[in-house]
Amino acid sequence: MTIHALIYTLHLLCALIWVGGMFFAWMILRPAAVSTLQAPARLGLWSDVLPRFFRWVWLAVVILPLSGFGMLHLRQQTIETAPHFIQVMIGLYLVMLSLFLRAQLLELPALRKSVAAEDWTQGGAALARIRRLVGFNLLIGMTLVGLAAARPTF
Ligand code: HEM
Repeated sequence: MTIHALIYTLHLLCALIWVGGMFFAWMILRPAAVSTLQAPARLGLWSDVLPRFFRWVWLAVVILPLSGFGMLHLRQQTIETAPHFIQVMIGLYLVMLSLFLRAQLLELPALRKSVAAEDWTQGGAALARIRRLVGFNLLIGMTLVGLAAARPTF
């Protein structure tokens, strides 16, 4: 396995973990939790699930740019000389990063605080905000993967 192949694999695995994890949370766990659990149990579940998932997202958030820029470096390219779809990838990564940081640093602590205080109204509001942020990130992530696969020549 060449060093490029190794870095490329890491890059893809991280994209898979981040985008696939959001897909599972949004499309599968969320509706199942709504249909089977009352608010206290549901909010408790999410305040346990999200920190576990976000630890893996941190890994992806760090490895994606390192591996991405590593691949560019191996090809002796810079942001300026990289193909346009890579430049768009970097821009969308920054948008995804800022939405993730908002969920991690602002909304998740609010959710956990509300669950600890058994304030289900505030907890529900915090969870709804996280759901929106993750929903946007899922859309952007899927667009990004589609873009990377299609490699448009604009
Ligand atoms: C600073 C951030 C990033 C940089 C510098 C970067 C850079 C790169 C580079 C250089 C490639 C190789 C393209 C080629 O083989 O021509 C690549 C491929 C890819 N990247 Fe990224 N990337 C970044 C973020 C992301 C993110 C956030 C995702 C998805 C969540 C992602 C998903 C992919 C995918 C799916 C491919 C495979 C494309 C293919 O070969 O078909 N990347 N990226």
